[in-house]
Amino acid sequence: MEDSSHEASTFWTQADALLRKNLTYQKRNFSANLRLVLFPVVLCLLLVLLQSILDTQLNKSSKKCGCECVDINGDGSCEKVCGLEFSTTDQARTCSIPSPPAWPPLLQIPAPQYRAVRSSFDPSADLPDESCRTTGTCPVTVLVTGSNQTLGEILAQSMFASTGIPNPSNLTDVITNSVLGSSTEPQQDNFLDPAFAEAPPLYNAQLQCSSNSAFTVSVPDPDSKTQTPHVFQREAQCVTTKNLWRNGSAAINDELFKGYRKGNLERKINEILGAYDFLDSDATKYNVSIWYNATYKDTDSGGNFKLMRLPRAVNLVSNAYLQFRQGSGTKMLLEFVKEMPKFKNDTKLEITSLLGTLFFTWVILQLFPVVLTSLVYEKQQKLRIMMKMHGLGDGPYWLISYAYFFTISALYMIVFVLFGSIVGLKFFTMNDYLIQFVFYFFYINLQISLAFLCAIFFSNIKTATVVGYIFVFGTGLLGGFLFQSFVEDTKFPEGGIIAMELYPGFALYRGLYEFGQYSFMGSTMGTDGMRWKNLSDGRNGMTGVLVIIAIEWLLVLFVAYYLDIVVATGSGKSPLYFFEKFRKKRPSSFRRPSFKRQESRVFVDMDKPDVVQEREKVEQIILEPNVTHAIVSDNIRKVYPGRDGNPEKVAVKGLSLAVPRGECLGMLGPNGAGKTSFISMMIGLTQPSSGTAYIEGMDIRTNMDWIYTSMGVCPQHDLLWETLTGREHLLFYGRLKNLKGAELEQAVEESLKSVNLFNGGVADKQAGKYSGGMKRRLSVAISLIGDPKVVYMDEPSTGLDPASRSNLWNVVKRAKEGRAIILTTHSMEEAEYLCDRLGIFVNGSLQCIGNPKELKARYGGSYVFTMTTSGSNEQEVVNLVRLLSPNAERTYHMAGTQKFEMPKDEVRIADVFHAVELAKSRFPVYAWGLSDTTLEDVFIKVANSAQQFHTLT
Ligand SMILES: *[C@@H]1O[C@H](CO)[C@@H](O)[C@H](O)[C@H]1NC(C)=O
Ligand SMILES: *[C@@H]1O[C@H](CO)[C@@H](O)[C@H](O)[C@H]1NC(C)=O
Ligand SMILES: *[C@@H]1O[C@H](CO)[C@@H](O)[C@H](O)[C@H]1NC(C)=O
Ligand SMILES: *[C@@H]1O[C@H](CO)[C@@H](O)[C@H](O)[C@H]1NC(C)=O
Repeated sequence: MEDSSHEASTFWTQADALLRKNLTYQKRNFSANLRLVLFPVVLCLLLVLLQSILDTQLNKSSKKCGCECVDINGDGSCEKVCGLEFSTTDQARTCSIPSPPAWPPLLQIPAPQYRAVRSSFDPSADLPDESCRTTGTCPVTVLVTGSNQTLGEILAQSMFASTGIPNPSNLTDVITNSVLGSSTEPQQDNFLDPAFAEAPPLYNAQLQCSSNSAFTVSVPDPDSKTQTPHVFQREAQCVTTKNLWRNGSAAINDELFKGYRKGNLERKINEILGAYDFLDSDATKYNVSIWYNATYKDTDSGGNFKLMRLPRAVNLVSNAYLQFRQGSGTKMLLEFVKEMPKFKNDTKLEITSLLGTLFFTWVILQLFPVVLTSLVYEKQQKLRIMMKMHGLGDGPYWLISYAYFFTISALYMIVFVLFGSIVGLKFFTMNDYLIQFVFYFFYINLQISLAFLCAIFFSNIKTATVVGYIFVFGTGLLGGFLFQSFVEDTKFPEGGIIAMELYPGFALYRGLYEFGQYSFMGSTMGTDGMRWKNLSDGRNGMTGVLVIIAIEWLLVLFVAYYLDIVVATGSGKSPLYFFEKFRKKRPSSFRRPSFKRQESRVFVDMDKPDVVQEREKVEQIILEPNVTHAIVSDNIRKVYPGRDGNPEKVAVKGLSLAVPRGECLGMLGPNGAGKTSFISMMIGLTQPSSGTAYIEGMDIRTNMDWIYTSMGVCPQHDLLWETLTGREHLLFYGRLKNLKGAELEQAVEESLKSVNLFNGGVADKQAGKYSGGMKRRLSVAISLIGDPKVVYMDEPSTGLDPASRSNLWNVVKRAKEGRAIILTTHSMEEAEYLCDRLGIFVNGSLQCIGNPKELKARYGGSYVFTMTTSGSNEQEVVNLVRLLSPNAERTYHMAGTQKFEMPKDEVRIADVFHAVELAKSRFPVYAWGLSDTTLEDVFIKVANSAQQFHTLT
């Protein structure tokens, strides 16, 4: 090329330009970035708060092993001692109990106010009268049945027969000589029996009570740390027991059912101690069934099962039968019940290890929609394509974008892990940091690649956001409620789990799950958390996860890059792009005579000599080297394939034109004429169906990347970053065009001055605050920076006020020097002012091409005569015109106003004036005029005739 300053910018120049732009952009975006990175901090704080609330709940003194200040050595000084003896039943659960106390086994005795009495629903004569309830002296009832009443009564009798007051300090004696019971509800363990630890009295169930039958039971606490052993003392009150014979188990069932406290709506309650059915027992056979009240066992609010006071009820009857067989000397005693010893348990619940997996999955997945929407935003706003058209290659774009997202993700994770560790979340502190680093490193890379891949399929930021968040929440929930159950199911085949982990969300879930498991085990059992050596543990899925995410990362990254280049940006690369790279073409210039060309030109419209001439010029240029023409379009054609039953649409029908340097070619044409399709091909957004174009001798089919470096585009809609200033925009695009240092500064300054954005600090205002006109001027400045040889401007002055417009026109007019400009517009004024030549484009082909004067002369061989009269005189006007010019044509007619075209060779202007004077004397003429053709008339004429021709054929 003749201009050595115009070398294509290198990969690193482009990367540098983009990096500088992004840094400025992100600096403006600082608070949003900060919010994102601080999100994990907020979450960690929330977790810590939750944990501390939970801890205080669990460690409230009412739930913690009771302590007291005790004078252990008897010297007056006291020491804090904790243990069973100072605890309530709730607190006992957390004490260290090396040797639990032995409790006398008790019966469950109904409370006095509920004991069975005679009533309307149970009128059995042998039940006591209701009056005993008021005095609290009701006996407890035991129901008995069996096939042999004599035997049954003997056994029942001997169960509760008293043999005198037991020695209260001797537990064996207590058990032998009394039947102890309590109406308290038992606990879920028996470290501290509420019957002894709490207030209600003990009962001694006897057939007969004497006046002095109360005694005190004491249970020594073997674990006591005080010098004198701690003793639990309770007075046992005698309570009369009545054994009532019933004639069958059905009768007992009925009576128990009716007396039930909760089922009885009239609040008439008849509770019964228990019932024994001796079935077919006899002297040689012991066969008994026992009814006991099991309702207590699940009344705990936490859903824990409680113990039941059942052993003594069984022991009583067994002992009675043994004594019936062997005499009263033989005894079978259930001396005590006792829990197993246990350590002190700190009821500490590691919330992160338990809740962590689902929670942290969400936190990390959160980054995915952030990356995705950011990518789709650039696509939706067409900023990506704008950068591409100004020479930004795919490589630098990928490198810088990827690096940016990686930095943000890495910061996010670092803050998360670091802060989580600082506040002491076991999830982070227990596990090896290196494993965590490797896992998170691979995963965030996989996630970013995945976002790049998904971004290809979205063009709308709203859809992308919605889909992104559905992915986040769906993955978390599916992971927590489906995937985890498979992982925990030891029978589920490992292969199935691996297959599910191919879905990146589940791989993440599994990894976090493993961290959670190891830290939970670590905090409850005092093990180490996950270490490298643990990776070979049998059920540890971390190894598999690491392998999967590492391989998927590389795979997804490659596929995303490939699809992005081939499919998405429409850069016109073939699917075999990567293979073509190996063939390494040299930029080919256009001097390759093509003989096929002749056939494709079979039909040439002889009506359009200017178009034919342009076509011949193009052929000439292609055959002979000619560097003066910057744009040469050679029979370029665009056909959109038929879709949904519609026929295929030919948008551009073999267009040939050549634009020399220093010329501005205006493209006029009605909407849908194919102008946009043509421009799209020229700027590399779409591929031509056939034919091609050469920009500075480079073929648009193969050398688009080179062409981008010497091309400028001013799109119809301003594609600007709201938060960047005008100067920053120009600096960025200038760098992309390989401008550096002082040269860049100067170019930007000149550019700003030329579009009148230099003064008053406008250059350093953010583009979002610009008015429409200023944005437009900035877009034009962008298209001109870096001295491009070819510039496309799509309706550059639409929507501008007249002052801004004339300002802009001056810029474009000055910019024409030394470069070729193709400009589309709907404003005839603009076309006439700016363009050296005009092409009118209708139905995909050029109808005429030439400078405005030529066109007007060719298509405007007539005067336009306008006259406005009252409606009744219209015919007279028509007659008058016919007289003046027999071939005149009426082109417009509306409410007395008529427009005629009169061929110039038929009329003389003087005749027209004369005729009008005459007419004025005959009828009232409101207004009249005679004008030469305007460009607008030419345009309408050409467009109409072409469209008529089109509809006829
Ligand atoms: C019932 O049991 C008593 C006591 O063992 C026995 O003497 C009597 O024969 C038994 N009656 C029947 C009908 O088996
Ligand atoms: C049981 O006793 C009831 C009356 O208390 C009586 O109606 C019923 O017939 C008896 N059943 C048997 C099997 O003897
Ligand atoms: C069994 O125990 C429950 C719970 O205390 C009580 O509501 C119910 O009335 C008792 N049933 C009988 C038949 O004693
Ligand atoms: C105990 O009694 C039941 C009911 O009468 C009877 O079905 C069962 O066979 C008896 N058991 C023995 C070991 O005799």
